Amino acid sequence: MRVVVKISGSVFPESLETGLIKSYAAELRTLRAEGHELAVVTGGGANARNYIRALRELGGSESHCDEIGIRVSRLNALLLISALGDAAHPLVPEDLGQLLAYFSTGRIVVMGGLQPGHSTNAVAALVAEAIGAGLLLNATDVDGIYTADPKADPSARKLDEIRTQELLRMVLGGPLWAGAYELIDPVAVGIIARSKIPALVVDGMDPKNLTRALRGERIGTRIIP
Ligand code: UTP
Repeated sequence: MRVVVKISGSVFPESLETGLIKSYAAELRTLRAEGHELAVVTGGGANARNYIRALRELGGSESHCDEIGIRVSRLNALLLISALGDAAHPLVPEDLGQLLAYFSTGRIVVMGGLQPGHSTNAVAALVAEAIGAGLLLNATDVDGIYTADPKADPSARKLDEIRTQELLRMVLGGPLWAGAYELIDPVAVGIIARSKIPALVVDGMDPKNLTRALRGERIGTRIIP
């Protein structure tokens, strides 16, 4: 299957401890060997948020904060490319044209952000649209989408599935500034809806969830476009 994997920035911690990055590389190589065509988008994580906070304190505009977040997400992409070795295209695409060119080589393409105004989740949705992916897998830092923030509200309940209209209502109530997007951003939801991209949110702390999801196991939360 042609798959886009969004790997949460939390896989690239502030300390840049590499254990989970290596595990992801092993998992992605296995999936490629099984015949899956993969494009991967890496989030910016704690280091992006640190840079964004510093830039904002120094008077940078929101779009400059976004730009620095994009750069950090591309650094994370470079780390994963190194871990993947010759299974990956060596360059990080900076627009969708480059993505398509690199993807046509048959290697795994790994990229970070594209332009200001949204998160890497929107990039993953744009990539899924561009390559005609059969699945957008969002490997994040929770095990699915909840009725409320599970870290703040103990009564929050995990959803097996959610429609894009409902998801859009939820995310529009959250913060929309640089470095502060929560689970998914409104641009991503809009793209999933307009191109009817099958999407699944899974726990990204266990890379084996990629294989489980591709085997059709019922994990995470399915987004119904
Ligand atoms: P992300 O928000 O996507 O990374 O990018 P994250 O915070 O690690 O989130 P998860 O856990 O992967 O979901 C960091 C910041 O970079 C900017 C935004 O400011 C975003 O909050 N960004 C990223 C853009 O402006 N455009 C992009 O295309 C990507």
